[in-house]
Amino acid sequence: MVQTEAHKITPNIAFDPVSGNTQKDPNTMNASDNFSFDTIVDRHNTNSAKWDKYKHQDVIPLWVADTDFKAAPVIQQALEDRVKHGVFGYTRTDEQCNQVVADYYQKKYNCHVEPNWVVWVPGIVASLTLAIRSLSKQHSQVFTPDIVYPYFHTTPAAAGKQANHLAMTYAQDRVRIDIDALEKRNAQDARVMLFCNPQNPGGAIYSREELLRIDAYCEANNLILVSDEIHADIILDEDKQHIPYLDVSDHAHNNSIVLGAASKAFNVAGLACSWAVIPNDKLRRAFINEMHGIISEINPFGYTATLTALTHGDEWLAAMNGYLCDNRDYLMEQLNDIKGLRMLPLESTFLAWIDVSELNLEDPCAFFETAGVGLSPGSNFNDTNFMRLNFGCPKAVLEEAVSRIRKALT
Ligand SMILES: Cc1ncc(COP(=O)(O)O)c(C=O)c1O
Repeated sequence: MVQTEAHKITPNIAFDPVSGNTQKDPNTMNASDNFSFDTIVDRHNTNSAKWDKYKHQDVIPLWVADTDFKAAPVIQQALEDRVKHGVFGYTRTDEQCNQVVADYYQKKYNCHVEPNWVVWVPGIVASLTLAIRSLSKQHSQVFTPDIVYPYFHTTPAAAGKQANHLAMTYAQDRVRIDIDALEKRNAQDARVMLFCNPQNPGGAIYSREELLRIDAYCEANNLILVSDEIHADIILDEDKQHIPYLDVSDHAHNNSIVLGAASKAFNVAGLACSWAVIPNDKLRRAFINEMHGIISEINPFGYTATLTALTHGDEWLAAMNGYLCDNRDYLMEQLNDIKGLRMLPLESTFLAWIDVSELNLEDPCAFFETAGVGLSPGSNFNDTNFMRLNFGCPKAVLEEAVSRIRKALT
């Protein structure tokens, strides 16, 4: 199965080498076709974490959470303009940059944010650490979901705290914190609760009712909630809505840190730019103090891409969400038709959560790699029954991946 030219894995579909676009029948085109989501971009020789993992192997990488889509043309243009300027010295945000974030929350979520609540940080993981370190000084534990993006488990330990795992539920096939179980426990020696909404893995978007119950628990137990909302702009169903945690109640507003970024939805994670919204002055000062001497400035390209995404990205984002929705539906239908696999429905993210327990595989990750598909092992997220598949790629690549999986299992 090993091939020296790994890009041979790109499936055989009509491809125009001049425009870089795959060719489609105009009669079957839809809104997302105005942008080039079908284009297969060769990411080799770009130090792509996702693609370099299987550099010399015929394995389609569907693991780490970035998509294979080119950034929106408006973002590419803004970056080109910034490059043409030619000077890339230290870059600082000003009131206007913060205002862009404030306007985005207002327009998108009808949620009021004051510009001075916004703190810029190169990455969300760094913010998880900053929040834990700044707010848990007197506390030995950090509450965190049991099944979640791995850094939720490792950042408390790296800060010298014990990660106290909160039980999850799979009821209605939505992976989320088991709020009934949560309400039965006391907060012991925790001051901070890490929270992932939309939830990765699983893609559940917490409802207002769920958020209110979690907030009531935090109020009763004197907890500050740190809400990682990095996937919030990726909404796969029009009737689903993300609610920023700070907008849930007055208590949530004063006792939370909300983390956001354009990185996932606009596929600019490599540009290292994110923000924290912290309405409470005291919490914000503590968070900022913790940054001293550790957190570097954000680079000019990160700002350019992020601010452009928030101000001019809507049309592209809607098209990408539509494209992802089609990929999700296709994948659900295909995988759930293969004996031994069960993909859960998902409301957000481009990360399918697939139950492979019926296959009784000793090493599920190795099994799928041998089949030619690189997935994330569920063990990374604390559930060995599952595998995670990133479907943020051109449909043709997904079709090839599905055909390899089907071949390996039938
Ligand atoms: C839930 C979640 N939080 C944080 C991150 C990483 O964020 P950053 O690259 O900004 O540190 C990811 C990346 O996959 C993620 O899924």
